[in-house]
Amino acid sequence: VNNSKVAVMGASGGIGQPLSLLLKHSPLISELSLYDIVGTPGVAADLSHIETRCKVRGFVGPEQLKDSLRGVELVIIPAGVPRKPGMTRDDLFNTNASIVRDLAQACAEVCPKAIIGIISNPVNSTVPIAAEVLKKAGAFDPKRLFGVTTLDIVRANTFIAELKGLDPSQVNCPVIGGHAGVTIIPLISQCKPAVQFPQDQLKALTERIQDAGTEVVKAKAGAGSATLSMAYAGARFGFSVLRALKGEQGVVECAYVKSDVTEASYFSTPIVLGPNGVEKNLGLGKLSPYEQELVQASIPELKKSIEKGEKFVNK
Ligand code: APR
Repeated sequence: VNNSKVAVMGASGGIGQPLSLLLKHSPLISELSLYDIVGTPGVAADLSHIETRCKVRGFVGPEQLKDSLRGVELVIIPAGVPRKPGMTRDDLFNTNASIVRDLAQACAEVCPKAIIGIISNPVNSTVPIAAEVLKKAGAFDPKRLFGVTTLDIVRANTFIAELKGLDPSQVNCPVIGGHAGVTIIPLISQCKPAVQFPQDQLKALTERIQDAGTEVVKAKAGAGSATLSMAYAGARFGFSVLRALKGEQGVVECAYVKSDVTEASYFSTPIVLGPNGVEKNLGLGKLSPYEQELVQASIPELKKSIEKGEKFVNK
């Protein structure tokens, strides 16, 4: 039965509102719990008038945090501050690290079995932060904690489709590694349908995918980073998790998870999702020499970000 309860943490924000709208529209979800430090009563009242079955409730402020998580199967976290021009995702660390830490702590206490998808940047560090918090609380299950990197796949699909004149909804290009700069590794050699580019175009396409977030930050000129496309990607990820929870076989999404595929202890690869979250890690697959180079370049960056996150919790 389609009776899942989902929580959005940071639901009043630029990502949180459109994400909540997309979730409200889904027949997979029977109850939506919207948490933020401001604004959720209004967002929830507004969404609750939409003529779908899903019930929406707003929770506001730390005193309602725990109530927002009761009985929740999937928690999606876009809470935090966004990037301004000139900032990297890592510049958000100081603010967002403690937001994610506190939300993960509440999940550990109230819904330790929930699947958690983290959008708050820098994802390369915020996922290890949540993992350390959950570990300390005895609630860490590496199968149930994900960094949402779906937007990188969505962007790769779109840009490849543009270059080749394809329907973007029919393109599927895995993107692995992490969710910042050189750690974003599109596996164009594994794209379906197969596509070929001369090396210079391949490099330019790879760099466009790696910097696509900055394209949006610049175009928004100080008003923030990607919100609508990120909300779409967060919803796509959430729907995949829920379909797998309900027993659909063979649902695959790339996501940033605890990993032993490379030397980096968290790494995004295609993941078969199942009723318990990660069912199978499909690993790197066959890489081109160029992609192997990109993976090697990403490892030190990832290790640094992971260590920074872990240290933040264990200091
Ligand atoms: N708990 C819950 N929500 C919080 C908290 C907290 N401790 N602190 C801030 N928020 C809320 C804000 O009140 C706001 O409604 O998070 C929301 C963030 O929304 P925006 O500022 O509009 O930012 P947005 O563009 O949605 O990006 C959020 O996602 O992609 C990442 O890099 C992005 O880290 C940033 C995050």
